[in-house]
Amino acid sequence: MSRIIKMGSYLPQNKLSNLDLIEEFQIDSSDEWIQQRTGIAQRYFADQDEEVSHLAIKAAKDLLDPTDQSITREIKTIIVASMSSKQPTPSVANQVSLALNCEDAFCLDINTACSGFVSALELAEHLSSNQTTGYTLVIGAEKMSQILDANDRSTNILFGDGAGAFLIEHDGIGLLEYQSAMHSDGDLSLSIEVSQATNFLMQMKGREVFNFVSRKVIPSLIDFIQKNAIEMDYLICHQANQRFIDLIAKKLSLDELKLPSNIKEVANLSAASIPVLCHQLVKNKQLKLDGTQTIVLCGFGAGLSWGNITLKI
Ligand code: ACO
Repeated sequence: MSRIIKMGSYLPQNKLSNLDLIEEFQIDSSDEWIQQRTGIAQRYFADQDEEVSHLAIKAAKDLLDPTDQSITREIKTIIVASMSSKQPTPSVANQVSLALNCEDAFCLDINTACSGFVSALELAEHLSSNQTTGYTLVIGAEKMSQILDANDRSTNILFGDGAGAFLIEHDGIGLLEYQSAMHSDGDLSLSIEVSQATNFLMQMKGREVFNFVSRKVIPSLIDFIQKNAIEMDYLICHQANQRFIDLIAKKLSLDELKLPSNIKEVANLSAASIPVLCHQLVKNKQLKLDGTQTIVLCGFGAGLSWGNITLKI
């Protein structure tokens, strides 16, 4: 079966504590409010000239051996999930392909905001149904700092920039023990908006989204785990608010070691949140990428959209 064999990530150099952010954006807020309501202590922001594609390329290069071209030559598909890329074409995926010197990869970008990475993995799984050799690169990359509204303190404190990547090796049809359930609810589509009407800056009705996550996303995740009788090593959730992580741990009676979190250090990375956290677990030797561990991924965000995936890695 196909399997995720490598992970990589990239965080920009520019680290901002809550107090740094408050000073830079002149926000009427406090470190205490932000930490208590969200669990966030700091985030990383890309430089002005660092585009989403640069972040995506760095995450991809992080998982590849620069001296060995044998993998890049065999990358058949590149999928990049992002909601913050300001360049419609060429796609971020095409720019990654160019930077890596891939020979003939099918490249595409997708946007389901903070659900982006689980959507990209779902797509990779469907596309791999007739692929028995080669590799697929799945990347989540975001420069959220460029769509934040300096005047909206309820949203601009939440996000950071970064990118994370998975490399899938195709050795048979489909990902190992893959199951998924993807959802959306258009009724709340204007709860999170980046459009001409918002000057292409992020606007979010935070309380509305909070209630949606509590009432829909978390019950759907619990149902997914229980219905499929999943015995998991790790539950890796989109890092939107530490309060969600704590709530899920409580509802599932899960040890916090099984429900890792990095929102304190990197904030909400939207589509990059899940792969960056997964790669951190690889670096900590908690995820072994040897085909023996079961993980559940849960993404949610604008759309409103959400999705749960379980697979063996
Ligand atoms: N500092 C100080 N006070 C603030 C700040 C701030 N940064 N932001 C808001 N407040 C104030 C509000 O004005 C309000 O004051 P009031 O009572 O006088 O009116 C008070 O704090 C409470 O505001 P709430 O919005 O009710 O605060 P809440 O506890 O809901 O926390 C938050 C806000 C953190 C945004 C929370 O609602 C949340 O996490 N929502 C979900 C976000 C999410 O999951 N998004 C999905 C992914 S994002 C994507 O897809 C792009």
